[in-house]
Amino acid sequence: METIKLGIIGAGFVAHFQARAIRQIRNVEIAGITSRTKARAEALARIVRDDGIGAGVVYDSVGEMAPHVDAIAIFSPNFTRIEIMEQIVAAVKQGAALKGAICEKPLGRNVAEARGLVELADEANLRTAYFENQIFMKPVRAQLAQLAPQQKTMGPLVLTRSAEEHGGPHEPWFWDPTRQGGGVLSDMGCHSIAVGWYVLTPPGKAPTFLEPVSVSADCALLKWGLPAWREKLLHNTGVDYGKTPAEDFATGMVTYRNPETGQLVKAQFTDSWMFEKQGLRLFMDGMGPGYAFEVNTLRSTLELFIGDVAAEAIANAEMALEKATASRGLLAVQYNEADLYGYTDENEDAASAFLAGRDGFLSWRYGLEITKLVMAAYLSAERQQTVDLMDPAVQQELESYVPLIQQGRGGEVLLNIT
Ligand SMILES: NC(=O)c1ccc[n+]([C@@H]2O[C@H](COP(=O)([O-])OP(=O)(O)OC[C@H]3O[C@@H](n4cnc5c(N)ncnc54)[C@H](O)[C@@H]3O)[C@@H](O)[C@H]2O)c1
Repeated sequence: METIKLGIIGAGFVAHFQARAIRQIRNVEIAGITSRTKARAEALARIVRDDGIGAGVVYDSVGEMAPHVDAIAIFSPNFTRIEIMEQIVAAVKQGAALKGAICEKPLGRNVAEARGLVELADEANLRTAYFENQIFMKPVRAQLAQLAPQQKTMGPLVLTRSAEEHGGPHEPWFWDPTRQGGGVLSDMGCHSIAVGWYVLTPPGKAPTFLEPVSVSADCALLKWGLPAWREKLLHNTGVDYGKTPAEDFATGMVTYRNPETGQLVKAQFTDSWMFEKQGLRLFMDGMGPGYAFEVNTLRSTLELFIGDVAAEAIANAEMALEKATASRGLLAVQYNEADLYGYTDENEDAASAFLAGRDGFLSWRYGLEITKLVMAAYLSAERQQTVDLMDPAVQQELESYVPLIQQGRGGEVLLNIT
């Protein structure tokens, strides 16, 4: 089988997760790794070599790695996107024969950055894949396949609700709205908005077939702005939500129009960093006329019970579930999270697309559209108004819009700051 030799930039949380996914597919080898901290790159390289998923050679820079790989995956923090992509373009101009580039969500912190990434990829004539894993989730794909006859006879889904929630991110930069791009809406709203759009899309149509009509959203700082939690955050991450707060809760509604029938359908999203249950929960449901689906990743075929008396022997709660918050009691266990959350299938899709000389199922142009919807949600929450996406003036405004929260001025719009 033909394989893609992948070079990875960044050796943190998501790079390790992706390595677990790549172990399960046959058309990707991790040929190279480069990261800001060489020790972390070397630690990941050891795992890659031990698992037999590639040579895992550690390089000092993007420029040194690029000539030795077929494609590059950007798994570094959000604020590094443009500088990394400029290095990739420079490497291609110096002769690196890259077929494509992958970028983790979000494509950019705002529309200008996301558009900048698309333009840089065009400049280097690279095929692209935007990694929105939830669209590749097997339960999401399975419900679409199972309900295809109902969609055909009864009409499409008319309402979906999507949520991604956990107790808060693992690294300080995620909490800093200026580096990450905002709070939970930027970090996880991009997932829920994308998967909502996707499940409403009639089978066989492109992921941008439905036209976004309007967005209304609300952002709030409900838990991590409270004095005791603010202190804890400052102590653990160095980020001061008394000065530069970000939202830990966001919810909203996107309305879409089917351009062939004129029918309006709605996708509600809810995302939080203040979820107090076992760990990460992805929830999606959908209603069509006479049929429905529901996905809840905290329901597993495997549950463990660890009583107080036995709790000292616990190995590692995060082995059970991403962002696990408890290590005793009744625990939900997802033993193949990389597959459940869609990482395996997004890698397989990108590799086969690049080998065939085309973009992945979700290109960076698609990622740009998601960034636009996320920015429209911030604009709506800031103004406390529904944003009309059919208005050309709004589209123009979104091109250069940077949310107040992202500018570090969240205190002007978030409640509960005392
Ligand atoms: N799809 C998902 O559900 C999901 C989950 C987690 C993270 N992500 C995304 O993945 C990206 C990385 O997140 P993470 O959780 O792995 O972060 P992380 O902080 O755990 O890891 C980031 C890695 O990038 C390296 N790095 C930092 N600056 C760099 C630079 N200029 N050049 C090269 N390497 C650099 C760091 O040393 C670290 O190894 C983010 O964009 C995030 O939004 C996606």
